[in-house]
Amino acid sequence: MQEIKKYVSENKQRFLDELFELLRFPSVSADPKYKGDVLKAADYVAQKLKDAGADKVEICQTAGYPIIYGEKIIDATKPTVLVYGHYDVQPADPLELWKTPPFEPTIRDGKIYARGACDDKGQVYMHVKAFELMMKTNSLPCNIKFMIEGEEEVGSNNLGIFVKENKERLKADVVLISDTSMISLENPSLETGLRGLSYVEVEVTGPNRDLHSGVYGGAVANPATILAKLIASMHDENNHITIPGFYDDVLALTEKEREDLNKAPYDENEYKIDLGVDELWGEKGYSTLERTGTRPTLEVNGIWGGYIGEGAKTVLPSKASAKISMRLVPNQQSDKITKLFKEHFEKIAPKSVKVKITPHHGGEPVVTPTDSIAFKAAQKAILESFGKEPIPTRGGGSIPIVALFEKELGIKTVLMGFGLDSDNLHSPNEKYDIANFYKGIETIPLFHKYFAELSR
Ligand code: BES
Ligand code: MN
Ligand code: MN
Repeated sequence: MQEIKKYVSENKQRFLDELFELLRFPSVSADPKYKGDVLKAADYVAQKLKDAGADKVEICQTAGYPIIYGEKIIDATKPTVLVYGHYDVQPADPLELWKTPPFEPTIRDGKIYARGACDDKGQVYMHVKAFELMMKTNSLPCNIKFMIEGEEEVGSNNLGIFVKENKERLKADVVLISDTSMISLENPSLETGLRGLSYVEVEVTGPNRDLHSGVYGGAVANPATILAKLIASMHDENNHITIPGFYDDVLALTEKEREDLNKAPYDENEYKIDLGVDELWGEKGYSTLERTGTRPTLEVNGIWGGYIGEGAKTVLPSKASAKISMRLVPNQQSDKITKLFKEHFEKIAPKSVKVKITPHHGGEPVVTPTDSIAFKAAQKAILESFGKEPIPTRGGGSIPIVALFEKELGIKTVLMGFGLDSDNLHSPNEKYDIANFYKGIETIPLFHKYFAELSR
């Protein structure tokens, strides 16, 4: 531990400078406008892995953005850790809400403000620097493989293909990912599950063209009104989702699991203040931690239709649309939920409109084991570097590829994330505490050390 701390403290500024360079590439995978920048971010990650001492570093081409692979095999009889992360980021819009530009990383109050600071460049880079540290201090205790992709934020479709085609190359004993949250530096935690996702776009069409709302209003259905009604009807008075069969496969938690989950430190008042809401909302009968970690949800991500420009235009729109996502929990299946949604939406739509439902990417939920050697190694590593036992929690976000690692490679994952839920992921003013960045770099080598030790 002393040696780790020494190396980090001697290289502090450089680590940060290098991360800043990575954060300056606007590697937005969703927007083709940034293609060149996404590719530059990929090159940068590959180069830094090489510089740190990785062998066989390759920028693997796919039908989309490349996957960076690199490895260090020290001894075939030792265990292998596969580190996964992503160098792509979400779009930075709305730009006007950023206090400083999203791709000009800025430090305020001990925090790095930039798109990708936490999700996931800051966290990926901790692994690159922890690897450098282990190489430079001659302390890499196991084999290590890196797979850093550029399409996580758009569904990881090409990574799915890559994984299926590269099973031998990706052989490992555990997948280690830092792309989730912990409660705080004072209350370190480890997420033990991720929700799945089913994402659809709906379009409601009324009359065959936009109409004068005075001339035709009252005679034909307004698709915006109908869409609002349909969406509103998908939660009942207890905020249960009304799609028939939606909860059929949901695995209920045991009383003990619920109790444990609710032991995690959580201050409802602070939570409300931070979010600027006077009251929380959600499914009746479950605590906030249960609702975000262990229950499925249905959210409108965007809704539009009709005139949204300056001033007033009296129009009865021909169409209205919405993007809707459903977060899934074990043992729900994304394809099945998408189908149930589609059937239900078509059924409840009145004859006065036509509806079209387009499925987008999906992903399956996962629960990661807490009795494995790898999880114990993560617990020990955190205990040593934070001086406190990590609290197991269930995360609300999704990393769809994790279920696929299990299915295709037969490998379980450890989610050792160092972000905070309040880091404004996908939101303006995304941030990452510098302290969490360094803490991560110090904790990761300990994970490898204990994983190698406990595997013997
Ligand atoms: N890193 C997040 C997922 C995450 C965040 C998990 C915080 C747990 C806590 C990841 O980059 C992400 O944003 N995933 C998307 C899904 C993807 C298919 C676009 C998500 O959860 O919305
Ligand atoms: Mn992420
Ligand atoms: Mn994300």
